[in-house]
Amino acid sequence: MCENSTMSVTILGIESSCDDTSAAVIRDGIILSNVIAGQKVHEAYGGVVPELASRAHQQNIIPVVHEALKQAGIGKETLDAIAFTRGPGLLGSLLVGTSFTKGLATALEIPMVEVNHLQAHVLAHFIKADESDTKHPAFPFLCLLVSGGNSQIILVRNWNDMEVIGQTIDDAAGEAFDKCAKVLGLGYPGGPMVDRLAKEGDPMAFRLSKPVVAGYDYSFSGLKTSFLYLIRDALKEDPDFIEKRKNDLCASLQYTVIEVLMDKLRKAVKDLKIREVAVAGGVSANSALRKAFEEHAEKYRWNIYIPPFAYTTDNAAMVAMNGYFKYLDKDFSSMDIAPFSRVVI
Ligand code: KG4
Repeated sequence: MCENSTMSVTILGIESSCDDTSAAVIRDGIILSNVIAGQKVHEAYGGVVPELASRAHQQNIIPVVHEALKQAGIGKETLDAIAFTRGPGLLGSLLVGTSFTKGLATALEIPMVEVNHLQAHVLAHFIKADESDTKHPAFPFLCLLVSGGNSQIILVRNWNDMEVIGQTIDDAAGEAFDKCAKVLGLGYPGGPMVDRLAKEGDPMAFRLSKPVVAGYDYSFSGLKTSFLYLIRDALKEDPDFIEKRKNDLCASLQYTVIEVLMDKLRKAVKDLKIREVAVAGGVSANSALRKAFEEHAEKYRWNIYIPPFAYTTDNAAMVAMNGYFKYLDKDFSSMDIAPFSRVVI
């Protein structure tokens, strides 16, 4: 273990909260490797099947860790600690990463560091590509965390001091994309497909219902229902409606989801007078959301932080980064730790 704070700190990160098995190595905040193995097995089911996910994690975890160490060019004896996602996520999946970490940390006689998956998404913004990479949000900043399971506005006062000031009261933004995409007969996850088809569509073609929710909270279930009813009614008139208007439907859906997300974020920025604004999570890969951030930066003089694509979806680099911060604080986990499926930040 590295006792001297001036010495380099090398962290192995392990992520297994859903359907991606990932391992990454970070040294002093600089990325050395980030290996992700997806799981194609779920495609046939239109969603993640928890039991199949945990089995695939068991098969993937050793080769993925091996590859991450290889790409980083280090041996496992160089590691100072192992950071792992404790939750939230699928329990069976999390158990694989947690148990593996316990085994390897015991064998190497190094500490293990538990990481909250949601906080890790936020802290992905501090991963350095190299020594010269200094563009990171300054505290305090606001982070829009949008994924398949979460839509939150987080006030980040420090790396270990985060407050969720707004969140969805029903579906998440990614869920809205995925469920509406399913109605259109697109594959799973539908978000990336909607993004692609929307590029050729008219965002003003269809008017979808926008939620009225207090404060900084979100709601996407009404939007989803209005999308469903629009299609149900139009199909009665024209059985080829979806095929003919797919691009316009995707563009209108995407436009409305992003309007809803940005309306609340703008309100939070104005009220809290914080113009450091980041976006994180799977939906932050969306091209129109990225464009909306750029437009807001221009129009309202926000300092914006958009993650590289590799850090938008689930990845272990963000886990290792969070682990690095915790390591510096000597915030280690005990061996009897168990994963958790649900949590607030
Ligand atoms: O953070 P993430 O990888 O994991 C979970 O929440 O489990 O987010 C996945 C979500 C899915 O709902 C997916 O459809 C959405 O992110 N997503 C997108 C795009 N890429 C991924 N949604 C819209 N546009 C995209 N380009």
